[in-house]
Amino acid sequence: MNLHFKIAGTGSFVPAKVISNADLSHMVDTSDEWITERTGIKERRMANEGQGSARMAYHASLRALKQAKTEAKDLDIIIFGTVTPDFYMPSAACILQDQLGAKKALAFDISAACSGFLYSLVIAESLVKQGKGKKALVVGADTLSKFTDYSDRSTCILFGDGAGAVVLSSGRRDCGLVSWRLYSDGSRWGLLNIPGGGSVYPPADKTLMKRMHFIKMNGRKIFKFAVKLMVDAAEEVLDDAGLDIRDVDLFIPHQANIRIIESVVRNLRIDKDKVFVNLALYGNTSAASIPIALDEAVRKGRVKKGDRVLLASFGSGLTWGAVLLRW
Ligand code: ACO
Repeated sequence: MNLHFKIAGTGSFVPAKVISNADLSHMVDTSDEWITERTGIKERRMANEGQGSARMAYHASLRALKQAKTEAKDLDIIIFGTVTPDFYMPSAACILQDQLGAKKALAFDISAACSGFLYSLVIAESLVKQGKGKKALVVGADTLSKFTDYSDRSTCILFGDGAGAVVLSSGRRDCGLVSWRLYSDGSRWGLLNIPGGGSVYPPADKTLMKRMHFIKMNGRKIFKFAVKLMVDAAEEVLDDAGLDIRDVDLFIPHQANIRIIESVVRNLRIDKDKVFVNLALYGNTSAASIPIALDEAVRKGRVKKGDRVLLASFGSGLTWGAVLLRW
């Protein structure tokens, strides 16, 4: 059995609450000018109290299912890329399955931070290819605002909340996933993490007092790795497919920092008009960043049948990779 899939529908959702750079300048010692120049971000969205990743994913999924003309009850697989699940257990995928009423789907989470969507997509593809299901829902959603320290100016300016989803269904032989590369380097886990709340430092008064439940990051080091890792992975998937960067119709990089994106674009020598960027509006939404951008690109008519779409990500872990899709 060697089946193929197509992306039959895309959807995305961001919470209504907007946090502008001006809002942040009232919380920490920063300015719109600094944030815009160093990151390209103008505003980001923030989930309400009690609004978790699964609820955002639910809204994104409904939109993807509608576009795919698929009913939730027909889903065989749900894979949910997130590092901010609603609860430690069960998985956010199981919460989403319940909300959607996708009773026959197997459902599980993938923890790969900002690369969570690419990891989830590749796993879903391999399950579909093996004939383990005909319809799969792949989600990337994160609620990083709940783990962001709004007294730390080096991190609070970057992150926002959101969700993106795609529905896969078996399709033509010449569409779907053309090639992919995924990588991890656990030796660099210290560069970006949330130290408190896990099994090493379970929630306690001491961990709360030390602010260990918030994101800790070495931004400068991550910046350096991000450019090289995304460029290498993108070049490898093109090599694997026997293609050149000029064969790519649309490039969607992880939306973390405009300077990282510009460096990647320069190094890959891809035409700027082929690069999709929506970072100014949402900041870094972690696993949601690529599927939100993909959904916006599709709805704006930037992706046509037969197009080659290149996706590239990096994130905590470290994890990184690239995926080449044929639409
Ligand atoms: N406002 C004003 N000044 C600031 C701010 C701020 N918000 N943040 C830092 N500064 C200051 C620093 O204190 C430092 O001051 P100093 O020179 O007096 O010490 C100065 O600005 C320069 O700081 P750098 O850290 O060198 O600034 P840089 O240009 O590297 O930008 C940034 C920082 C934006 C965090 C950048 O390093 C970056 O984007 N890194 C990548 C981070 C990233 O993408 N992380 C997500 C990975 S994906 C995932 O898994 C979620």
